[in-house]
Amino acid sequence: MTSTTQDQLKRATARAAVETIAPKLEADSIVGVGTGSTANFFIDYLAEIKGRFDGTVASSEASAERLKSHGIPVYDLNSVDGIRVYVDGADETNPALQLIKGGGAALTREKIVAACAEEFVCIADESKWVPVLGSFPLPVEVIPMARSLVARELVKLGGDPVYRQGVVTDNGNVILDVHNLEIMEPVALEEAINNITGVVTNGIFALRPADLLLLGTAAGVKAFS
Ligand code: 5RP
Repeated sequence: MTSTTQDQLKRATARAAVETIAPKLEADSIVGVGTGSTANFFIDYLAEIKGRFDGTVASSEASAERLKSHGIPVYDLNSVDGIRVYVDGADETNPALQLIKGGGAALTREKIVAACAEEFVCIADESKWVPVLGSFPLPVEVIPMARSLVARELVKLGGDPVYRQGVVTDNGNVILDVHNLEIMEPVALEEAINNITGVVTNGIFALRPADLLLLGTAAGVKAFS
């Protein structure tokens, strides 16, 4: 697949997300907005309906800047009562709509915003669809001083953690990308990694999976729920 084709699929799913959420939004609605290239297309299409909802909460500084550049209000999560719908991309999705996220290092804020949302809509191109999670290295956000401790514990869980050099998250932490995991029990592994001292969040979204997946395919955007 060429990158142009993949971008076309990302655009199509982002546009479908705006068409899907628009009828659900009211004047006081808050939209949660994810991070990454697919989320960026979503932000650009969301601008076409700005004014039909109150504003947004962003899952990263980068998305907040893009939203503001379109004149879309961005609120602090602590200043809003709730989020009507959260729209975000993914690095992998399985048929249960459990995800791996964090390729853009925004996983912690993404998981927080998803936890607040009435509805979580995942937007992805078909390259992200997998039967079993784990081919994409699992991102884990870690307090910097705990990096080696957490890496040793991740090895005990069967993974091969690699320090993502030169990346500092919006929260001031570092990322370990865990290779060679075959995630047969996503909920159990999400909980086990969260229980390692020094881990802030891991990129498995199984305790709170997506409610709706809009998957961009060569045959059109398919919806799964
Ligand atoms: C960022 C993420 C993104 O949703 C994920 O990396 C997918 O990105 P893209 O839409 O660019 O393929 O989790 O932390």
